[in-house]
Amino acid sequence: MGRARRFQWPLLLLWAAAAGPGTGQEVQTENVTVAEGGVAEITCRLHQYDGSIVVIQNPARQTLFFNGTRALKDERFQLEEFSPRRVRIRLSDARLEDEGGYFCQLYTEDTHHQIATLTVLVAPENPVVEVREQAVEGGEVELSCRVPRSRPIAALRWYRDRKELKGVSSSREDGKVWHVTSTVRFRVDRKDDGGIIICEAQNQALPSGHSKQTQYVLDVQYSPTARIHASQAVVREGDTLVLTCAVTGNPRPNQIRWNRGNESLPERAEAVGETLTLPGLVSADNGTYTCEASNKHGHARALYVLVVYDPGAVVEAQTSVPYAIVGGILALLVFLIICVLVGMVWCSVRQKGSYLTHEASGLDEQGEAREAFLNGSDGHKRKEEFFI
Ligand SMILES: *[C@@H]1O[C@H](CO)[C@@H](O)[C@H](O)[C@H]1NC(C)=O
Ligand SMILES: *[C@@H]1O[C@H](CO)[C@@H](O)[C@H](O)[C@H]1NC(C)=O
Ligand SMILES: *[C@@H]1O[C@H](CO)[C@@H](O)[C@H](O)[C@H]1NC(C)=O
Ligand SMILES: *[C@@H]1O[C@H](CO)[C@@H](O)[C@H](O)[C@H]1NC(C)=O
Repeated sequence: MGRARRFQWPLLLLWAAAAGPGTGQEVQTENVTVAEGGVAEITCRLHQYDGSIVVIQNPARQTLFFNGTRALKDERFQLEEFSPRRVRIRLSDARLEDEGGYFCQLYTEDTHHQIATLTVLVAPENPVVEVREQAVEGGEVELSCRVPRSRPIAALRWYRDRKELKGVSSSREDGKVWHVTSTVRFRVDRKDDGGIIICEAQNQALPSGHSKQTQYVLDVQYSPTARIHASQAVVREGDTLVLTCAVTGNPRPNQIRWNRGNESLPERAEAVGETLTLPGLVSADNGTYTCEASNKHGHARALYVLVVYDPGAVVEAQTSVPYAIVGGILALLVFLIICVLVGMVWCSVRQKGSYLTHEASGLDEQGEAREAFLNGSDGHKRKEEFFI
C-alpha cells in the first residue's frame, strides 16, 4: 500500500497539472490487491465535490453504481460510503475474473476519471506430495510436490528434520494461475522408513510468515531381521519356556517358521505367531531352535541354543556374574561411606575434647564410632563374600 501511494503522487500531480486549475474538481483512487475469496475496498476520493454525478464502472465498463444507486445486480459489490469526500465500494468473495481497472468517473462539464486496478492473487492450496516408485533400501526415492493453482507462482521448498532439501521446480501457466511442481531425489536406507518429509508452498497471497505444508511419511521397504528373546535365562526340567521371535521388515513378514536344528520340534511345542511355547521341558528338548522370516527383499534367521538342566542343578548362569560385581561395588561404597563418617565423628570428638572436659559424653560417641567401625568391617566381610 505504502509503495502504491508513493508512486501515485507524482502521477496525480501530473494529472492535476494537465486538467488545469480551472475546474478544481478531482477524483483520486488507489490500486488494490486482494487474495482470491477475500474482500477488496475500492475508494474514489473526491475533492471539492459539487454534487455532480459519480459513476463507478467495473473492468467491463458496466456501471456498478450510478451516483450511489446500484446499477449492476451483483450483491458482492456493496456501496459502503458516499460522502462529499469519498465513494467507497466493497467487493466480497473476490474472484480472478473481477480483476482489472475500476473506473471512478465524475460527470462535470469535462468528465474526470481515475482507474483503480484490482489485482487478485491466488494462495496455494495444501501441496500434493506423491512418490514416483516404491522406495527400497539402498535405492533412491523421488518425491514430487504439486500445487495446481497459485498466483504469483508459489515457491515450493522441501524439508526434512528442519533441514532444507534441494528440489527442482518447474511451472506452467494455466490461464491466470500457475501450476507448480517440485521434485526431490535422495538415497534411502532402512532407517529412513517412517521419516517425515515436508513440502511447503508460499506466495504473497498468504499472510507473511504463513505457508501451506504437507507432510509425507517415507515408506522404505527393507529385508527382515530376526531376534529371539527367551522368557527366562536358566531353564530346568519341568519349566515352561516361551521364545519370542522379534522380526522387523517392510513389508512385515507375515509368517514366522520355527525349527530345531535337523530334528523336528517337540510335540508339546506350540507355535503361535511370533511365540513358541515349550511346556514341561525335558532334557531331550535340548537343541538349537531357529525362527525364520522372509519378505520379497530377503530372509532372516535367528538361533537360540536351549540347554535344559536338572531341576536341582546349581547353575553358574552368565547373568549372575554382573550381579556379583554390582553387589561387590555396592558393599565397597557402603564401607567407604562408613569410613568417612567414622572419620568425621572422630574429628568432632577430638575438637570437642579440646574445649570440653573429658567426661563430656565423649565416651558415648567413641562407642558409636566403634560400633560403626564394626559395621564397616561387616560390610568388608560381605564384600569378600561377593567376590568369592
Ligand atoms: C495501478 O496499476 C496499473 C496497472 O497495473 C498501473 O499501470 C498503474 O501505474 C498503477 N498505479 C499506481 C498508482 O500504482
Ligand atoms: C448525487 O448524489 C449525491 C449524494 O447522494 C447528491 O448530493 C447529489 O445531488 C447527486 N447528484 C445528482 C446530479 O443527482
Ligand atoms: C544335520 O544333519 C547333517 C546330515 O544329516 C549333519 O551333518 C549335521 O551335523 C546336522 N546338524 C545338526 C545341527 O545336528
Ligand atoms: C542337555 O544339556 C545339558 C547341559 O549341557 C546336559 O546336561 C544334558 O545331558 C543334555 N541333554 C541332552 C538330551 O542332550
